[in-house]
Amino acid sequence: MSFQKTSFSNQTSKNYKIFYQLWFLILSILFMPQSMFSRTVEVREGESIQKAIDSLDKGDTVKVFPGVYHEFLFVDKTHFTLSGVIINGKWPILDGEGKLNDGVIGSGANFIIENFHIKNYKANGVMTQGAGNITMRKLIVENTGIYGIYPTMGTNVLVEDTVSLGIADAAIYIGMCHNVDVRRNEVYGSVIGIEIENSTNVLIEGNTVYDNSAGIVAFALPGLPLKKVENVIIRNNFIFDNNHRNFAEPGALVAGVPPGIGIGVMAGDAVTIEGNIIRRNSFAGIGIGDNNLLPNSKSPDPDVEPNPDRNKILDNVFIDNGVRKWNDFVSWIFYVIRVLFSGNPIPESPNGGKVGIFPEGYDVVASGKGKGNCLISPDSVTKIGTADYGICQPQETSVKIKTMIGDPKLGEAKSDARELGKQVFGAVCSGCHSMTLRTVGPPIKEIQEKYKKNVFGVVSFASMPKKVRPGFIEMPSQKYLGNEKLTAVANYILNLKDEENRGVAK
Ligand code: HEC
Repeated sequence: MSFQKTSFSNQTSKNYKIFYQLWFLILSILFMPQSMFSRTVEVREGESIQKAIDSLDKGDTVKVFPGVYHEFLFVDKTHFTLSGVIINGKWPILDGEGKLNDGVIGSGANFIIENFHIKNYKANGVMTQGAGNITMRKLIVENTGIYGIYPTMGTNVLVEDTVSLGIADAAIYIGMCHNVDVRRNEVYGSVIGIEIENSTNVLIEGNTVYDNSAGIVAFALPGLPLKKVENVIIRNNFIFDNNHRNFAEPGALVAGVPPGIGIGVMAGDAVTIEGNIIRRNSFAGIGIGDNNLLPNSKSPDPDVEPNPDRNKILDNVFIDNGVRKWNDFVSWIFYVIRVLFSGNPIPESPNGGKVGIFPEGYDVVASGKGKGNCLISPDSVTKIGTADYGICQPQETSVKIKTMIGDPKLGEAKSDARELGKQVFGAVCSGCHSMTLRTVGPPIKEIQEKYKKNVFGVVSFASMPKKVRPGFIEMPSQKYLGNEKLTAVANYILNLKDEENRGVAK
């Protein structure tokens, strides 16, 4: 009896089993992740990486084997991976030979780039434009004319385990992004190590930053579509010997950054500086100031609140900041010469912050007004200009915050229904052109005066730039954007009014 029963139930369970197996098969085909259909193309030395990229689609991967590739790569696809293969310590190298403008430009969301050595480009190493969910990791970026690693207008951006050196502006530049982690990178021998500009929710952690003119800076600049730098954590970094001669193009905005700054905050709000080792930066371990530090600060942007507020200097280790050595002194001589001859004199800071040409150095240098700033143990550091600072409390520590990267859906979202021109301006041109300031290129005001309503003129210049102004770098060609985007952006900038620009993407 019991035998029979068992055999019966065995039979039934067998049927069920087959049924479930079939059902599972059907379900798994239906819900097969996209990645199962995605393709991978391998590229070897002598072949074209761009061709491989162009042959692929959403969700696909290009694997690049070691070798030297003289290419500019443009990836205008979403969910795309550009991955180098490192074999016996040999990396795939992208070499612009000082002739090409950019190493890689990515303009699609969910883009991953990893394992490349990128060098000798006139403009940027890797740039992403207006796209979210970006990962840039394990990159070596060397000797580029503007930025090394440059995500702009993105949400959810991760930059990790990269090395950048010899960059004439910022080695890692976070421009107008939200929700960003920059961790475990090494940056040296550049004008600025890591720069966060007009971005919010940024974590800069565990980086090694040395031998730049300035180590890590957070700036809110006027005349850009996003108006503030806020909620930034600069934590557990090694920041030392940032006394390099400032070798930026004279007259460019960064050329005005005095050498010898460990961490700099200009007009930043809610920046927490904690757990860093800050050593031998000859002008300031930490400098916090307002937009009066900018040249031409007489034409401010009324939507940029120019004061630094609610910034916290918590426990850090300060050693030998403000001590000038012979080689730092040489940097300063170069700096003074540059300031005197650039036509962009360093303004006198009206409120006592002592940012003169030969300032003395301190652990903490503050200038400008600003509310709610604090310093945790004022007696332990050398400082100037911090009379208004309160005392921070230990419980204000940021240690609970592990990442700033948010829901991937935020990064997928197209940047609103903003029209194309606005978007291209924000993502591309505004990296070098501000409404009223000379940043890398001339201000939009000046372009408007020169071109009036000549949209075609701007389009042709942008696709085939020529050297016009002495003392400026040559503008990199924007031809890759294509006519539609260029026409849209040309229209946009020629009609851009001061007030309109303020309205963009606050
Ligand atoms: C990497 C920096 C950079 C980017 C990005 C950039 N420009 Fe420029 N632009 C410059 C520089 C530098 C100059 C000045 C070049 C010179 O005078 O030799 C310039 C000059 C110009 C001029 C003035 C030309 C003239 O005849 O005086 C126009 C117009 C212009 N840019 C349009 C654009 C547009 C449109 C975009 C976006 C699609 C753009 N630029 C993106 C750096 C840049």
